[in-house]
Amino acid sequence: MTGEDVAREGLAASLDRQSYEALSQYVDILAGRGLEWGLLGPREGDRLWQRHIGNSLALGDVLGRGMEIADVGSGAGLPGLPLAIARPDLKVTLIEPLLRRFNFLTLAVEELGLGDRVEVLRARAEETKRTFDVVVCRAVAPLDRLVKWTSPLFPDGALVALKGSTAEEEVRQASKFLSKQRLTTEILELSGGPGVEPTRAIRVTRF
Ligand SMILES: C[S@@+](CC[C@H](N)C(=O)[O-])C[C@H]1O[C@@H](n2cnc3c(N)ncnc32)[C@H](O)[C@@H]1O
Repeated sequence: MTGEDVAREGLAASLDRQSYEALSQYVDILAGRGLEWGLLGPREGDRLWQRHIGNSLALGDVLGRGMEIADVGSGAGLPGLPLAIARPDLKVTLIEPLLRRFNFLTLAVEELGLGDRVEVLRARAEETKRTFDVVVCRAVAPLDRLVKWTSPLFPDGALVALKGSTAEEEVRQASKFLSKQRLTTEILELSGGPGVEPTRAIRVTRF
């Protein structure tokens, strides 16, 4: 069995049947149109479950029930679409400025039948006037820039940014701005289950 099979089976065991089937449909969309439209690198097709789906779902542990979340710089829908599929209690807004990615997201939401809970907004984070319980994001910008763009979007909530080995350095670089804004950070170690690449996130909240 490949690492990808181990991750897929582990995630299948942790999800209800309907969520697993919808996630499989989304993985097929990523492996087809996602790669064709150049939204994911050509080598990413071999690690959709173990990296992209697994890391996205790992964020679910830090999202309370019934929350309204925004995925800023959603790209092909990561992490927002896997979260929306696996967590029917969440309302999700995918924020993405680029037209091709916005079109991809709109089509995927329609095909996955998620239109009643998932909205796609063509906008830059810093131009968005809405507010959310939690803003999530992955691979969009360094923490200092992310916080500047997104802090008005979570007046009482949090930003949770998936990050790898650079987390501490990014927190250090953003520290002056963070304390001026009365924001505090915490680094979370996230485990997505068997076969899933472990990842980390920085959670930013107000104090
Ligand atoms: C490297 S991609 C990551 C996409 C996805 N989050 C993922 O992990 O696969 C970065 C995305 O951020 C978007 N982006 C860049 N600047 C942005 C901004 N100011 N506001 C919102 N999205 C932005 C880009 O259009 C792009 O889709």
